[in-house]
Amino acid sequence: MPRVILCFMLILGLLAMLPPIIAAQARSTPNPNLPINIIQDMDLQSKFKAQSENELFADGRSQRPQVAGTVARDEAYADTHFNEGTVGGQWATTNPAQVPLTLALLQRGQDRFNIYCTPCHGYSGAGDGTVNQRALELVSNVDGPVNGTVWVAAKSVHDAAVTVQPIGQLFNTVTNGVRNMAGYGSQIPIEDRWAIVSYVRALQRSQNASINDVPADKRGGV
Ligand code: HEC
Repeated sequence: MPRVILCFMLILGLLAMLPPIIAAQARSTPNPNLPINIIQDMDLQSKFKAQSENELFADGRSQRPQVAGTVARDEAYADTHFNEGTVGGQWATTNPAQVPLTLALLQRGQDRFNIYCTPCHGYSGAGDGTVNQRALELVSNVDGPVNGTVWVAAKSVHDAAVTVQPIGQLFNTVTNGVRNMAGYGSQIPIEDRWAIVSYVRALQRSQNASINDVPADKRGGV
């Protein structure tokens, strides 16, 4: 092989090693400059970093201490009967110990039901609340539904599909909602949700009662 070609190939080989050497050098040396970032998204924004100093707060820390009374979520939610209405993965069939079935609970439940549920479900729970009546008016307008109103009627709590549900399932419906019904977990405190579903049970009983539910000495009265 002529020497010229040999020299040429040698030079080419040496030149070919340059890019990987430059890349390796760039990768191993920290660069104080920020990379060129064309699409910023939210990469660069002012923020306080954990464990760093901050003069804004009296204690000089950017990391704020936990709010007094903070409880680990897992701990607070361990009681699934009370929090979710389930016992061992099944819908609970009884009230949890925190909200035993008492007359006071039912009265509270009636009070809350009348505030939160009657607009759609009506006072007896039959699904004939004023919102429902108004919506039916709007959808049955002679010229077609007003403003394209679409309406799914609130279900009657006396529907056979609902009366067979364990109380834990009712609690879940009120907490998280069901199909077209929104959940009330964020608006109604947990004890009140149990009071409401206990009252729903009483409503169901009231519509399906027999003479045997009336104490013997009260029968025959008006
Ligand atoms: C804004 C109207 C509205 C309010 C207020 C409302 N619901 Fe409902 N509810 C509905 C509708 C609509 C359905 C039926 C949803 C469907 O079938 O898509 C329903 C269904 C139900 C069901 C049947 C669930 C099932 O498994 O079929 C129960 C029980 C129930 N609601 C209880 C309550 C209780 C208790 C409250 C008060 C905390 C309440 N609802 C408040 C509209 C409402």
